[in-house]
Amino acid sequence: MISRNDICWCGSGQKWKKCHYPQLPSTEPLAKRYLKEFGILIKTQEQIEKIRKACQITSEILEQICAAAKEGVTTEELDLLSRKLHKEYGVIPAPLGYGQPPYPKTICTSLNEVICHGIPDKRPLQKGDILNIDASCIVDGFYGDSSRMVAIGEISKEKQLVIDVSLECLMKAIEVCRPGGEVWEIGQAIEDYATSKGCSVVNQFVGHGVGIAFHEAPEVPHHYNRLQIPFVPGMTFTIEPMINAGVREGIIDPKDGWTVRTKDGKPSAQWEHTILITESGHEVLTRF
Ligand code: MF3
Ligand code: CO
Repeated sequence: MISRNDICWCGSGQKWKKCHYPQLPSTEPLAKRYLKEFGILIKTQEQIEKIRKACQITSEILEQICAAAKEGVTTEELDLLSRKLHKEYGVIPAPLGYGQPPYPKTICTSLNEVICHGIPDKRPLQKGDILNIDASCIVDGFYGDSSRMVAIGEISKEKQLVIDVSLECLMKAIEVCRPGGEVWEIGQAIEDYATSKGCSVVNQFVGHGVGIAFHEAPEVPHHYNRLQIPFVPGMTFTIEPMINAGVREGIIDPKDGWTVRTKDGKPSAQWEHTILITESGHEVLTRF
């Protein structure tokens, strides 16, 4: 068996590693091209390890906050639990102080007709509520991002529908994530399915590259679009479809600058995962 420091078989006189040593399919020129063409950061194996860890912890923290979301509990209490968990794990909540105006809490809690970016407050959860909890953690400088729905007691058919359809949309979108696919296929999978169930897809907010920063390129629309960006191994991004029972339009609360509510007041639901594109397809980094 020839080893890396042996003289190459070809007669060049050079070491094998400097000569005909088989190169792993080098991602480096590709990474340069993706950065230049799309602004996308293709992650190295070392970065992927760190992002995987960040996503695992995000998932564990989110799981525990969701388990605490019960009738009578306020979303502010969920935020306090989130702060405690982030401290215990020694990680930083990415939303706190993020954006303009600075986001005031460590998680987003989006209730019923709130599409996204709901701010934890003093309202106790009630039977019939549906709640999205969105957690994003910074672990050793790397980011994970995930969200889930929780139902409080019995909920209406319409609320159950948006919960089920948004989860199915996320799963169908994950299925198209593989080398050879392109970013537009995510929006196609989601809008095809959501509209077949009589629901609408929010187009004012999108998924995003994530890992080295909170929000990186590319944008990942959940609605029909023409983004011809081929998936390549080492891409990490979120898919986070927001699905409404009524119209797709959302309105940002002018008082807090964050809370987004459906224009018609009908319910909305969302699930979010961070995804890694691999040689063979994808890995769901925030799997629950
Ligand atoms: N997953 C959400 C997003 O990517 C998390 C928002 S946190 C906030 O937009 F701070 F921006 F609200
Ligand atoms: Co996100």
